[in-house]
Order: sequence, then structure tokens, then C-alpha cells
Amino acid sequence: MEKRSQWGTRAGFIFAAVGSAVGLGNIWRFPAVAYENGGGAFFIPYLFALLTAGIPILIMEFSMGHKFRGSAPLTFRRLNKKTEFIGWWAVLVAFVISTYYSVIIAWAISYSIFSFNLNWGSDTEGFLYGEYLHLADVPGQTGSLVPGVFIPLIIVWVVVLGILFKGVKKGIEIANRIFIPALVIIFLIIVIRAVTLPGALEGLNAFFEPDFTRIADPDVWIAAYGQIFFSLSIAFAIMITYSSYLPKKSDITNNAFIVGFGNSAFELLAGIGVFAVLGFMAVSQGVAVDEVVAGGVGLAFVVFPAIINEFPALNELFGFLFFASLVLAGLSSLMSITETYVAGLVDKFKISRTKAVLFGGGLAAVISLLYATQGGLYFLDAADYFINQFGVALLGLVEVVLIAWILRRVKNIQTHANEISDIRLGSWWTISLSIITPIVMGYMMFGLFKQNIL
Ligand code: PHE
Ligand code: NA
Repeated sequence: MEKRSQWGTRAGFIFAAVGSAVGLGNIWRFPAVAYENGGGAFFIPYLFALLTAGIPILIMEFSMGHKFRGSAPLTFRRLNKKTEFIGWWAVLVAFVISTYYSVIIAWAISYSIFSFNLNWGSDTEGFLYGEYLHLADVPGQTGSLVPGVFIPLIIVWVVVLGILFKGVKKGIEIANRIFIPALVIIFLIIVIRAVTLPGALEGLNAFFEPDFTRIADPDVWIAAYGQIFFSLSIAFAIMITYSSYLPKKSDITNNAFIVGFGNSAFELLAGIGVFAVLGFMAVSQGVAVDEVVAGGVGLAFVVFPAIINEFPALNELFGFLFFASLVLAGLSSLMSITETYVAGLVDKFKISRTKAVLFGGGLAAVISLLYATQGGLYFLDAADYFINQFGVALLGLVEVVLIAWILRRVKNIQTHANEISDIRLGSWWTISLSIITPIVMGYMMFGLFKQNIL
């Protein structure tokens, strides 16, 4: 059997973990979620969720991966024979996400090429219904493959699987060491341009204006927890897998703080950039900022192209930089999520990495073609909804309850982390994991259950 791979350097691991965390969730999800849930006041529940769930779970997952040195299924099996299935559940969620996350990166590749002569056209609604996606009229109808999506999608998979073939140190680590610094530089350029646009201040005022009455609303807290989970890539098997490649001597707790705060810093930066640009758009059209607020696919592929068309200068360049940043952020996340099932297959079936990448990644690539058809966006929405509602949050809750209450391993994991880390974990960590997070997440899941099933 091959010896377990290892990161070459501590920075390599941190870049890879940040690369996984920083993704589309930071760029198009956070700004809209914060705005809709109290603006400046959202930072209170958000920080609470980061400190009581995000970073504590990150520390827990890092410790588990490091201690048991396995992909998620193997780690859960080593924890207790009966819990291996939880690891597979996480792997399955990761697999499904990778099939559509890849498609969004493919769109961003096309759009970064279109930027050179603003080829997305002046009517940017065309993304959905016109020239680009050729969306089918009937939801659920597959239709034919859309060439403009198909070709970049193949490129995405060739790049990601090519990197994974090379392994942890020579592939994932090196790629993230290039992608992440490049992403930070590109993003800073965009944000500086954004905040110096006329109207930027209006946008920022709208974003940061606190509505403290919203803090009493449970939905706002749910939104904060949901954002933290998705954004930090926790309860996805990813962070367990990545930390299983850590060398024996690793300061786990410190790494978790760097990754947690690094991801949030990027989120804040994205919020500032996005709202500065929205402010520019609102002012140039003479409307209020809240009339132009958008998130998700609509923000990135419809609203932003329209705004970039109106930039005073260098529109092509800024269009390219914006979509290139989506591509870099997306690829580093897709790499991590694909690695979780590659590692799961290697550990379970004792096959080589090459075979695991071919079978696992290859199957995901083939399935992803479904979303490159005319009905693609409908399937994508459905898959995304299902995964977010029932996959991630529930899995996070199960994971925490299992460790804290069923197997009672909190002390055990705490000792492991404390042996190798500078920062000592005390009652903040144990109380967050065993009391605060299960209560808040249990309440969240109960609410979702009521909404969807009862
Ligand atoms: N953390 C990523 C983001 O913020 C999302 C993601 C989750 C990516 C899970 C991969 C796996 O976009
Ligand atoms: Na993120």
C-alpha cells in the first residue's frame, strides 16, 4: 500500500484549506445574505456563529483528521466501527456538489473570455434565456448539450483531475500556492476600483446600515449559521481529509483560527466590493440601492456584466479580472471537494490515487454534463436546494451530537489538539461544541423540517 501523502509545508496546508473555504459562497452568497439579514447588525449573529460553531468545528475536524489519519469514512470508522456511514454520507454530499459547482466555474471561464470584447452583449439577461445557456422552456426538460458550457466544463475537469493526479504535495499544494495569492491580488484590485467608483459610498452605506431589530428574528441566526457552515466547508468531509495529510507536529488550533478568520476577511472584502459596485449602478440609474441588490447566479452573470458595461474605463480588464477571480476561487474549492471522494476510494478499496481520480472524478465529470444541457439550470437549482437543506446542516448536527453526546469524545479530541497546539482549548471550546451548537442547530433543523415536511 502507498504511504499516506503529506503536505510539504505548514503554509501549503493553510493555503489549501483557505482555498477550499474561499469560494463562490464568499463572493456572491455572503454579501446578499448579510444585506438581507440586518446589514451591519448581521455581524453580531455572524461572529457568534463563527466563534461558537465555525472555528470550534474546524478545530474538531482538523483534530479528527490529524489523529485518525484517514479520509472521512476511515476517520469515522476509526472513531467507532458503527459510524463509518457518516463519513460516506459526507462524501456523497461532496460528490453531488462537485457535479454542479464545476458547471458554475465553466460559466465563469466562458465569461472571462467574453470579457475581452464584452461579448456577453448589452442585454445581459441573455445569459439565462438567450444566447448563452439556451435554457429549455420547460423546467425539467433536458434538451441538448449547450456547446458554450460543454467545452469549458471539460476544461474544468481536465485541470482539476490533472492537479489531483499529481497528488497532495505536488498537485493540490502547489496549485493553491499559486491560485490563492493570485486571487487575493486580483480581488484587491477589483475592490480598490469598486470603492473609487462614483456612488460607491451609497452602496456601502446600504450594506453596513444596521437594522438591530432583526437580531430578535431566529431566521437571521439561522442564516448566520448556514453561511458559516457553507463558507468554511465544514461538515463536508473536506477539512477532515485535508488534515489527514498533516505531519505529526502541527499546530491545529492555530491553523483553524487562521483559516476561519482568513475566510471571513475575504467575505468582508467581497461584501465591500460587491456593494460599492451596486452603489455605482444605483446612482447611475438614479434608483435606490435596494432596487439593484442581487446575489448568486443573477449577481455574477447578469447584474455584474451589465454594470461592467457601464464602467468609465477598462471595462474589458475589470470584466476579465472579476470572472478570473470566480474561476480561481471556484477551482480551489472544487479541488478540495473532489479530493474527499478520491481519498475515500483510496482508503476503502486500497486502489491507487490514479485509479480513484479516474473513477471518482470521471464519474462526477460525466454526471456534470447533465447541467450542461438546456435544462441544466433547473437541475442545478434543485440539487443545490436539496443539498443545502438536507445535506450540510443536518450532517453538521449529526457530527456534533455524535462526538459530544453519543460517543463522548470531546475531552479526548481536546487532549489531542492541546498536545500539539500553542493555544490551549478550554471551556469555550467544549461548551460551544457540546451545548451551544447542538441547541442552535437542532432548532434550525426542526424549523426546516416543519417548513418542508409538515
Ligand atoms: N466554502 C465554499 C464557498 O464558500 C463552498 C464549498 C463548500 C466548496 C463545500 C466546496 C465544498 O464557496
Ligand atoms: Na467560503
